[in-house]
Amino acid sequence: MQLSIVGSGYVGTTIAACFAEVGHDVVNVDIDEDIVAALNDGDAPIHEPGLDELVAEHAGDRLRATTDYAAIRDTDVTFLALPTPSEDDGHIDLSIMKAGARSLGATLAEKDGHHLVVTKSTVVPTTTEAVIAPILTEESGKTLGEDLDIGMNPEFLREGSAVEDFLAPDKVVLGSETERAGDLLRGVFDPLVARAGDPPVVETGVAEAEMIKYANNGFLAAKISLANDIANICKEYDIDSAEVLDAIGLDHRIGSSFLGAGVGWGGSCFPKDVAAIIAAARDVGYDPAMLQAAVEVNDRQPVRLLGRLREHVDPDGARVAVLGLAFKPGTDDIRNSRAIPLVDALLDAGAEVVGYDPVATENFRERYPGIEYADSADAALDGADAALVVTDWPEFADLGSEFDGMATPVVVDGRRIVTRRDGIVYESLV
Ligand code: UGA
Repeated sequence: MQLSIVGSGYVGTTIAACFAEVGHDVVNVDIDEDIVAALNDGDAPIHEPGLDELVAEHAGDRLRATTDYAAIRDTDVTFLALPTPSEDDGHIDLSIMKAGARSLGATLAEKDGHHLVVTKSTVVPTTTEAVIAPILTEESGKTLGEDLDIGMNPEFLREGSAVEDFLAPDKVVLGSETERAGDLLRGVFDPLVARAGDPPVVETGVAEAEMIKYANNGFLAAKISLANDIANICKEYDIDSAEVLDAIGLDHRIGSSFLGAGVGWGGSCFPKDVAAIIAAARDVGYDPAMLQAAVEVNDRQPVRLLGRLREHVDPDGARVAVLGLAFKPGTDDIRNSRAIPLVDALLDAGAEVVGYDPVATENFRERYPGIEYADSADAALDGADAALVVTDWPEFADLGSEFDGMATPVVVDGRRIVTRRDGIVYESLV
């Protein structure tokens, strides 16, 4: 099929390359000329394992990029994969989506025949029907349900395994309101579903598809927070929380994933999406107590980590090594990283901070140019009065003699990853 993707960010680029991989002709439309040029040269504008290879293989053939929306008129289906950031009060900011829908609608005004527009971005329930569709019909002059249809196809890929998650999904969710839109969406996904060994395909309405994305992320974020709540109780009783959580994970009704207790969840999705669905729920008169509690537990974990540190070292004037700046291992993304509230609190308390991360240092430096950065965990630990472990990078599990260089070997582990050894004062958050 002929597909167009509006937006070549993290999701847009990944799905464009993957749709090309399963046999579709894909054109990626973006206003950024550098990204468009890179894609056409066969270079992925973001780093994701396996993406470089797919872009290099399909660019110039089944995958191309352009800044010109007119290319959309030669396609049957358009996916809107534009950012949906947060406003200060947690509400979703739809300004970029609306602008994209306006340009798309104006382009479709000059297309004869039917077109399907699918929301790929995470948007709160009813956005596609109540906000996007009216812009499209107004700009294009087309009639919804006749020569224009809308759809919603939420994305569940994770940073660091985006290509694999897209090509081998647990499920595919296709939201549509008409038979024609449903048939078209199914046609887009048929080759992927066949290649992935027939994962469940959930065919549903557009608003249901929008809500499934928030329910998915909200549930996972709340699951981690509940694990953290339980682990915090364990800590107070001096019970090994890992043994408890591993045991409950064996119950198939609970499951073992996303029970990793520690300093909490961050990233570009969980914090934004949980805040957005809480704000949206309140707008329609419902106060989501569980999701609110998930946020509160998450906000408290870095505070608790600092509390553990204070039991051994006064941060005022202390040199504190922060090990891990990325929001999770395997990425250089620092958005909503737990390292951010921790570094803020350490600086407020008068600590001298030295940060280390295998790949995220430059991104962190942009936000915190005033702190010191080390090239290795060893160098960060050298002369430090304490170390805080914030991200569960596998290399931190191998640290051993590196702790010998600390001025006072106090290690406060926010991810339960450091191997305990003689000669260090080891304190885990949970
Ligand atoms: C998350 C979801 O997992 C994806 O399914 C979804 O598509 C994506 O958001 C999105 O909405 O775009 P991602 O943000 O890449 O993906 O990261 P995760 O691997 O889910 O981790 C999120 C946070 O939870 C990280 O800070 C991680 O350290 C933390 N986490 C994860 C824990 O604290 N404990 C765990 O057991 C698992």
